[in-house]
Amino acid sequence: MKKSIALVIPFLILAFHCQGQIKENNSLLEQLPHHIKLSWETAPETSQAVTWRTRADEPKGYIEYVEATASPFFEEHIKKVQAISRSYTSEDGIWYYHSVNLQNLKPNTPYSYRVGNKDLWSEWSEFKTATGQNEPFKFLYFGDVQRYIHSLGSRTLRQAVLANPDAKFMLFAGDLIHRGGLNTENWNEFFPAGGWAFQNIPIMATPGNHEHTWVAKETKEITPLWNLNFAFPKNGPKGQEEQTYYVDYNNIRIISLDTSAKITAAQQQETYVWLEKVLKEFDGDWIFVTFHHAMAGLARNRNPDIRFPEIKALLEKYKVPMVLTGHEHLYARGRMGADFPIYAVSVAGPYQNAIQFSDWIERAGTTMQLYQEIHVSENQLKYVSKTVLGDVYDAFTITKRSNGELQFEEVPNLPAESLVPTKDFEKRYDRELVKSYEADRIKYLQRKKE
Ligand SMILES: [Fe+2]
Repeated sequence: MKKSIALVIPFLILAFHCQGQIKENNSLLEQLPHHIKLSWETAPETSQAVTWRTRADEPKGYIEYVEATASPFFEEHIKKVQAISRSYTSEDGIWYYHSVNLQNLKPNTPYSYRVGNKDLWSEWSEFKTATGQNEPFKFLYFGDVQRYIHSLGSRTLRQAVLANPDAKFMLFAGDLIHRGGLNTENWNEFFPAGGWAFQNIPIMATPGNHEHTWVAKETKEITPLWNLNFAFPKNGPKGQEEQTYYVDYNNIRIISLDTSAKITAAQQQETYVWLEKVLKEFDGDWIFVTFHHAMAGLARNRNPDIRFPEIKALLEKYKVPMVLTGHEHLYARGRMGADFPIYAVSVAGPYQNAIQFSDWIERAGTTMQLYQEIHVSENQLKYVSKTVLGDVYDAFTITKRSNGELQFEEVPNLPAESLVPTKDFEKRYDRELVKSYEADRIKYLQRKKE
């Protein structure tokens, strides 16, 4: 007996020792800058916003940056800027959120940067400012990541970046997370899902309804964690800064509309006036509009009517080529009574819905995790939707003719559509919606043949 106790004691001591070490290491990890990401608050050719989070006794944060060199001996050229640091208490404790907008940068120039304070610094990472010139480039577009982010949502982000390390930014069409007010299982999973890619490739995002859902139910107020985590432009209508905004990247304009914003009827009117102005005044080559809610409901149990007729009319009036959305947890692409825009609806995460086969759909997909590459050049856009495995699922081009007219063309030989009903389909949907699925699917495929 004595012998066995003597054997156990060293193990207990070791176990306690290890536990203490783990705790200490965890707190050091939290004190170190993390959730580091790039975005744009002002012009991408001359500025770069960087945001991050720490749990530290010292609330201040700094960024050190320098024009990048292959040589690691760049100390003497480093510039240092203090961040705007705000404390916020969420369900997992008190954090400091730090934000810097580096300005007066040189266009088309790589910079190295790190963030931190005292002896707690991130690693050095690089970003490159936009050229401001008209030249071919691509960006990535993702639908909702939202749920099971760590377990399954992450693979879409990682595969997309691995396949496109030269993408200029990653555009998220809302519902990046499920509970916007919670870090646990939400932001604490989303940022590590992008990992160090977010330190090198800027994020652009429009808020979804779940960024307006703090904890349990929708409140309509956007989560404070939106403005704490990201730095987006404040060039939108008053009261919707960093939610409804635009970014001009080289020859394109990306317009984000927060379709979940808690705004008055008067503010809604102001938003339409603002949208018309930013559509009309742009003299570059291509406009993309992104908002979270697909222009019409598509999940099988949702209202299929047009959600935003006033916005739709403006998008048609100004012949916006492409509208990038989410919310339906499935894939769809089509036009709605006009040649343009082409409406895309996509989903990056594993939470999936069954589809209703609305008349406007030209290509549909269900039960798949997807990402999209959008290739931009002066006279052509090429849109490619790929599965998480990198297989092309949908692709089309929009070409600008010499007279300015746009021409849409689907890429030939696309694979057969995946129209598999979602898991638990029979449990989650009304019996009528389940019963009519097969007939609707056949009717849809028939319509497309004609
Ligand atoms: Fe949503």
